[in-house]
Amino acid sequence: MGLGILADGINEIIATTADPATGKPNAAPMGIICRNGRIMLRLFHGTQTERNIRESGWVVANLTYDPMVYVRSAFGDLPEDAFSEIPDGGMPMHRLTDCEAWEAFTTTIVSDTRETLVVELTPVASAILNLRPHSHNRAFAGIIEATVHATRYVVTRDPELWVLIEQAGEVVRKCGGKEHVEALEILLERCQE
Ligand SMILES: Cc1cc2nc3c(=O)[nH]c(=O)nc-3n(C[C@H](O)[C@H](O)[C@H](O)COP(=O)(O)O)c2cc1C
Repeated sequence: MGLGILADGINEIIATTADPATGKPNAAPMGIICRNGRIMLRLFHGTQTERNIRESGWVVANLTYDPMVYVRSAFGDLPEDAFSEIPDGGMPMHRLTDCEAWEAFTTTIVSDTRETLVVELTPVASAILNLRPHSHNRAFAGIIEATVHATRYVVTRDPELWVLIEQAGEVVRKCGGKEHVEALEILLERCQE
C-alpha cells in the first residue's frame, strides 16, 4: 500500500497541489481512501484541489498534527512559506514545509460524475522528516470532525451540522491545549461570516 505513510481506511491528511499555469501551491484537508490495495481520492467539484489535480495530475499527502493548519487550509490560503518544493519529484511538486512526513502521487481519473471526480493515486516519492510520537488527543480528532462539518455548513447552513460542530467544539474545549482551542475559535469565526 503506497510507500508507507498512509494506513488502511480513510486518511485525513493535508493535500498539497499547485496550479501548473501559475505555479501557485494550495493546501486543503482531504480524505485519502486506502482500501483493497487501491489509493483513491474523491473530490467534490469546485475546490482548488480538484482544479489543480485535473490540470497537473499530481497531489502530495502531508502528515501534520497542527490543528490550525487544518482549519486555515480548509477555509483559505496558507502563506507562501508554508510550502516547500520537492526537489526530485520529476515535476515541480510542493509539500507543507512543516509536515512530519509526506507522500507524493500521480493521479489518474477513474470517474467524473455530476457529484464528484474520483482519482486513483500512484505513489512516486515519500519522506519521513521529523515524525514525533502523538498520544491520541480527542481535541485534535474534534478539530478534524468540526472542520469536516464546517466546510459543509458554510455552504448549506444546515442547522443539524451546527449541532455537530458544537458537540465537537465541546470536546475540543474539554480535552484541548491552547492550540486546539485557538483553532476552534478561528473555525467558529469562519462559520459565522
Ligand atoms: C478532514 C477533512 C477531510 C476532507 N476530505 C475531503 C475530500 O475527501 N474530498 C473533498 O472534496 N473535500 C474534502 N474536504 C473539504 C475540503 O477540505 C474543503 O472543501 C476545502 O475548502 C477545499 O479547499 P480548496 O478549495 O483549497 O481545495 C475535507 C475537509 C476536512 C476538514
